[in-house]
Amino acid sequence: MIRSEQLKKLSWEHHDALKFARNVGRGLSLNADLTQVRSYAVNIAENFLEPHFKLEENSLISRLNETQQRNESVVEVLRQHREFAQLKLQLQQAETPELRPLLDRFSVLLKVHVKLEEGAFFPFIEQTLSIEELQLAEREIDAGHIVNCSNWPDPFWKSRS
Ligand SMILES: [Fe+2]
Ligand SMILES: [Fe+2]
Repeated sequence: MIRSEQLKKLSWEHHDALKFARNVGRGLSLNADLTQVRSYAVNIAENFLEPHFKLEENSLISRLNETQQRNESVVEVLRQHREFAQLKLQLQQAETPELRPLLDRFSVLLKVHVKLEEGAFFPFIEQTLSIEELQLAEREIDAGHIVNCSNWPDPFWKSRS
């Protein structure tokens, strides 16, 4: 499906999000230092996901009326945003042996989340908000868009031979 002009920048961020999810997944399969993968995931959550989720909630979801906010994809998007917040806390507090399942969930949930938003949530927003509302949202998204999040010094997702 062709993404509307107004939501394009959030879709670019989804592209980055999938890359971050793949990096975490690769780190796990390459048996990278899990505390290093944890720092990466927490960094992504704080500097990239949290501002991105805030834009989705404040610029898109808050423009829906009460009935529209009960749409299945909207409810699930918000549930997943809360799961990410919980997952970040668990990652920060976990002992090293507990990290692997949490990091695996982080990677899987990020992919599932992007798929849900691109496949159901954004199409719903595009159909539901007026063009004027979408343009107002676009201005806020332009202001809050994250250009490039990651310059990680140690790329643990690459194999070292
Ligand atoms: Fe998103
Ligand atoms: Fe989201």
